[in-house]
Amino acid sequence: LEVLSVASEVYPLVKTGGLADVVGALPAALAAEDIHVTTLVPGYPAVMAALEGGEMVHIFHGLFGGDARLLRGRAGGLDVLVIEAPWLYDRPGNPYVGGDGRDWHDNALRFAALARVAADLGVGFLPELRPDIVHAHDWQTGLAPAYMRYSGRPHAASVMTVHNMAFQGQYGRDLMQVLGLPPHAFSVDGVEYYGTIGFLKAGLQIADRVTTVSPTYAVEIRTPEGGMGLDGLLRARAGAVSGILNGIDTTVWDPATDRNIAEPFSADNLAARAANKAALQARLGLEPDPDRLIFGVISRLTWQKGLDLLLERLGTLLGTGAQLAILGSGEAGIAGGLEHAARVHAGQVGMFNGYDEKLAHLIQAGSDVILVPSRFEPCGLTQLCALRYGAIPLVARVGGLADTIIDANEVARAAGIGTGIQFGPVSGDHLEAAILRAAELWHDRDYWRQMQRNAMTTDVSWRRPAAAYARLFRALAAAA
Ligand code: ADP
Ligand code: GLC
Repeated sequence: LEVLSVASEVYPLVKTGGLADVVGALPAALAAEDIHVTTLVPGYPAVMAALEGGEMVHIFHGLFGGDARLLRGRAGGLDVLVIEAPWLYDRPGNPYVGGDGRDWHDNALRFAALARVAADLGVGFLPELRPDIVHAHDWQTGLAPAYMRYSGRPHAASVMTVHNMAFQGQYGRDLMQVLGLPPHAFSVDGVEYYGTIGFLKAGLQIADRVTTVSPTYAVEIRTPEGGMGLDGLLRARAGAVSGILNGIDTTVWDPATDRNIAEPFSADNLAARAANKAALQARLGLEPDPDRLIFGVISRLTWQKGLDLLLERLGTLLGTGAQLAILGSGEAGIAGGLEHAARVHAGQVGMFNGYDEKLAHLIQAGSDVILVPSRFEPCGLTQLCALRYGAIPLVARVGGLADTIIDANEVARAAGIGTGIQFGPVSGDHLEAAILRAAELWHDRDYWRQMQRNAMTTDVSWRRPAAAYARLFRALAAAA
């Protein structure tokens, strides 16, 4: 079975969030299921630099402003097809925004081009690569199923995976012609979305199947609160929507072999975590003290992640004597608040404002608890990494956080099965209570170690998720 995976970011080449991790890791996991994945990505500078081979397989004439070369090769350990279109993609930095922090003015065209090429491959443009399935990720690729449908030609089956409903890609109706969409596509069962062109809407409406990244989020997005305008569509298509949890790359995230941390450790050798705690305290200017509970945060700084609630309840956290280690990048307002807290509580709160993969690993290895107080979370990878590193996840009971953590309530504790702490509904009061519960549990060192072992032996790999995708892809291919 041949799958064409299409996405705007892919680890380790270009990453702004978990989407890249998923797109980067799923191909190897599917290979174990006998499914071959080719990944189609824009030719950003980082992708062009990493590309090995890079044989030209096709020229797309007049692709929104130029003739694009389609290059085939290897990059970041993946079989890739790269769209070399410098007028669209040869720009420094972040894939979506310019140096001024604003969206590139031509994002509609940049990502329509990605979808367009995917669709052309899906209708069999390249005889040597005829995908059975086009697997489109997030709004940037939402037009791929639409372009296939409106080509009027036989085409591959399509799966639209939504990693975050908050990003939908909405553009003016005046772009219909520029985007090469026929007028009749501007309808409720096509690309039309509240009078605009909706990229994600188009994908959700037209793809053969829709998946999202956890079973709970698959339910949440069918409600007005979680659907962000698309819940009606998703309710109407309920039979075509399902949730498949993400995994993590357990070779990148392996405390026994991790070179980014101070000392490797495992479930049988938890004592070795102490060296990582000391290294983390040193790295973030926290008081060196092996007996202090450390709460860690690794996060994009946006409203979604609920860190304002944490700031609001910081007094309670610090009142327990615990320390707080923060790594985050994103909105200046949230970053400023956290940096301020680190200045005022120097020695007890440490913050690195920026993106730093090495530090992310050290925080997982050196913290006792990882906080994820998200208002919504389609899946979340941070808590999966935390499980693997024996850092007890303290999470909001939403989306994938609800599906991946076993709350250490009294029943779980008696049965010895908890892996973390959940709170809900998402509010300052409930977060505060959960922080106090963590501080309390921390004193029961035997149970805490038990939780760590439970966490570390939880299967967070791609094995089961890949099998679920494989079943879905095979069923679709068989129906074609
Ligand atoms: P999202 O995709 O919504 O940001 P996820 O939990 O799915 O959330 O994925 C986040 C990924 O990005 C994780 O791998 C996490 O370790 C990483 N990450 C987030 N913020 C940073 C940062 N400032 N520095 C390094 N890695 C980060
Ligand atoms: C999105 C979501 C996150 C999810 C990731 C990968 O960025 O916010 O919850 O884990 O995509 O699917």
